[in-house]
Amino acid sequence: MIKIIKYPDTFLRRTAKKVTDFDNELQKLAESMAQRMFQDDGIGLAAPQVNIGQRLLVIGQADAKNYKTYVNPEITFFSKNKEVSEEGCLSLPKIFGLVRRAKKVHVKYQDLTGLVHKDKLSGLEAVVLQHELDHLNGILFIDRAEEITKGQDILDSLKK
Ligand code: CO
Repeated sequence: MIKIIKYPDTFLRRTAKKVTDFDNELQKLAESMAQRMFQDDGIGLAAPQVNIGQRLLVIGQADAKNYKTYVNPEITFFSKNKEVSEEGCLSLPKIFGLVRRAKKVHVKYQDLTGLVHKDKLSGLEAVVLQHELDHLNGILFIDRAEEITKGQDILDSLKK
């Protein structure tokens, strides 16, 4: 099973590259990312978290063993309405913080075959998509957190 890289690994700070090859490898990567995510009880995972610098992310759909893959996602609309919620990240275990994000977003993305789609997301899905898309740009939730609610001590020790 693929490994998740953890903060403060500098790879998490890189900007991922656009996916151009919609091949078998890409499908295998998405599938193994999804398996990893479910294994760790995550609800989203971005390729840079598994040491792959490509613009690809998976989002788990509740507790069902199904997931959605977003390739080269771009947010085309952020609602003015924002909401604060507590976030965590598989690359920052045991650390949680309050992050303010748009309640609704519109996203344009490609599927694993390269077809372009548009989606409107709200609620938890919108939050997860914004969090995962940040990973593609080297941004972590701790950069945006208004407050660290759990694991400040862990974070302090990692920063040293
Ligand atoms: Co994360």
